[in-house]
Amino acid sequence: EYRDIAARLAEIAIIPVIKLDNPEHASPLAEALEKAGLPAAEVTFRTDAAARSIEIISEKFPGVLTGAGTVLTIDQVKSAVDSGARFIVSPGFNPRIVDYCVDRGIPVYPGVNNPSGIEAALERGLDVLKFFPAEASGGIKMINAMSAPYGKVKFMATGGINASNLISYLESPYVAACGGSWMVKGDLINSGKFDEIEKLSVEAVGLVKT
Ligand code: 3PG
Repeated sequence: EYRDIAARLAEIAIIPVIKLDNPEHASPLAEALEKAGLPAAEVTFRTDAAARSIEIISEKFPGVLTGAGTVLTIDQVKSAVDSGARFIVSPGFNPRIVDYCVDRGIPVYPGVNNPSGIEAALERGLDVLKFFPAEASGGIKMINAMSAPYGKVKFMATGGINASNLISYLESPYVAACGGSWMVKGDLINSGKFDEIEKLSVEAVGLVKT
C-alpha cells in the first residue's frame, strides 16, 4: 500500500495541500480538482474541519486520492484513517507517528530536510519522503546534493512550490511529486472561487504535461 500510494502520487505529480475551514467547501473543492485532472488531496489537520472534510471527499469522490497532512499526533492519525484518509503526511519526522503507521501498514510520508531524517526513515523501510520546507531548505539544489548517497530515496517536495518552480523539481530523478497550496489558497476556498481553483489546477497539470 505504501508503494502503491507513492506510485499513484508520482503519477498525479502534484498534490494539492489543502486547509479547509468549513467542511461544506470539501465537495466543491474536490469536484474542481477532479475536473481539472488533479485527483489528489492532502487535507491538513490545521483546522477542525479536516476529519469531516476527508470523510466527505473519500465518500463522494472515490477517484480523488485523499490523505491527511500536517499530522502531528497519533490521535490525528486515527481520526484521519477513520475518516477514510489513504495516506498520512507530516511536516517533520516524528518517530512515534512513523512507527505507529508502519506497524499498522498505514502509508506514511514523513517530512525531512536533512540526511539524519533520511537515515531515520530508511531504517524504518521508508524511502519516499516529504521534503519540507522545500524552498527554504535549499530547494532542488539541496535535494540533488543530498540524494547522492541515498540512490533510491525519492521526495515529495513541498513548501514554497508554485507554477514557476514546479518543473525544476519534477525534472529531478530524486523527486517523485510536488505538493503545494498555490492552486488551493485559503482565500479562494473561503470565498467560493472554485472556478479559479479549477483554472489554476488545469494550469498546473498543463505544466507537467509539456
Ligand atoms: C505543507 O504543509 O506541505 C506546506 O505548508 C505547503 O506549502 P505551501 O503552502 O508553501 O505550498
